Amino acid sequence: MAVKKLRPIRWTRGIVYLLEQRDLPFREKWVKCDTVEKVAKAIEEMTVRGAPAIGITAAYGVALGAVRSKSKNTAVFEKHVGKAIVRLRRTRPTAVNLFWALDRMEECLKVVSVLPIAEQKQALEKEAIDIHLEDEALCNRLGEHGAKLLASAKNVLTHCNTGALATGGDGTALAAITHAARKNKKLHVWVDETRPYLQGARLTAYEVAHAGIDFHLITDNMAASLMKQRKVDAIIVGADRIVANGDTANKIGTYALAVMAKAHGIPFYVSAPTTTLDLTKKNGDEIEIEQRNPKEVTHPQGIAITKESYPVYNPAFDVTPGKLITAIILETGICRSPYQKSLGQALAVAKKESM
Ligand code: MRU
Repeated sequence: MAVKKLRPIRWTRGIVYLLEQRDLPFREKWVKCDTVEKVAKAIEEMTVRGAPAIGITAAYGVALGAVRSKSKNTAVFEKHVGKAIVRLRRTRPTAVNLFWALDRMEECLKVVSVLPIAEQKQALEKEAIDIHLEDEALCNRLGEHGAKLLASAKNVLTHCNTGALATGGDGTALAAITHAARKNKKLHVWVDETRPYLQGARLTAYEVAHAGIDFHLITDNMAASLMKQRKVDAIIVGADRIVANGDTANKIGTYALAVMAKAHGIPFYVSAPTTTLDLTKKNGDEIEIEQRNPKEVTHPQGIAITKESYPVYNPAFDVTPGKLITAIILETGICRSPYQKSLGQALAVAKKESM
């Protein structure tokens, strides 16, 4: 089956163009970001979202800050770029890919600081493009490894959006599904709508439809019943941050799925590039969970479903304990428990590969 490619982030002559994800699946509109502030707002307000995608966008935001700086003085130029990095760090706290990408841009700036400003600009632009291209390659590898785990599954359930819209390539968890479909495997996907922000209903449904994959959209509260009826063979999700013991922050609702999967003896897989690993944290309690605007709950898609004055709790993510995860798919291969050991080894391999 020929599957058309979706690519939501573009960099053209010092400008970041983002596919407006808040308008999907109804309208394909591109947003032009020609200032660091516009890039930062696009991340905060979810024009672009998904852990790898916000890392890539932030890297381009730094490149944009660099190429648009008019300063002829190195110290002032570096101050401009440094300010861009500080601003972009304040956008969203949970997905570690954002910080990974910004650290890498910061490191690049340090390395090239002895060069003339024009060359520093070129180097920072190249670094952001490399981050983007590398993520596309990581997605391919994730897709290949993940597709193997799904080889015998007919019905796969996924949560949130982990495809091309969330990354620089074909995705993380969704790449396993699209790669399996490319091999003509007759997979059927249960797409969780993913309350409250509806990434599943709006984005994953759009992506699987775009790819021509058989699917049904379900509300999140239908998953347990499908599992009981043996209509789910495997669950695969992405990640925003995976810590040393395998505890994984991902879209709110992921933890409930993992508990249900355990109760029904269904394998529960997490797929993410090693750029999503944060082995500096021992366990999931150390992960900062982003709290979002109450209106996302009271007014989904701008439509009031209850009174705006009601108190709301709206964490964007939850943490699934590593012990509920059957395997973590990384670009280096498949990791299993004990994660302290397997994730550490995988990261060492990834670091060696990048040298
Ligand atoms: O709030 P979002 O839409 O940025 O959350 C995205 C998710 O939780 C994804 O599952 C995660 O980033 C993995 S994407 C490859």
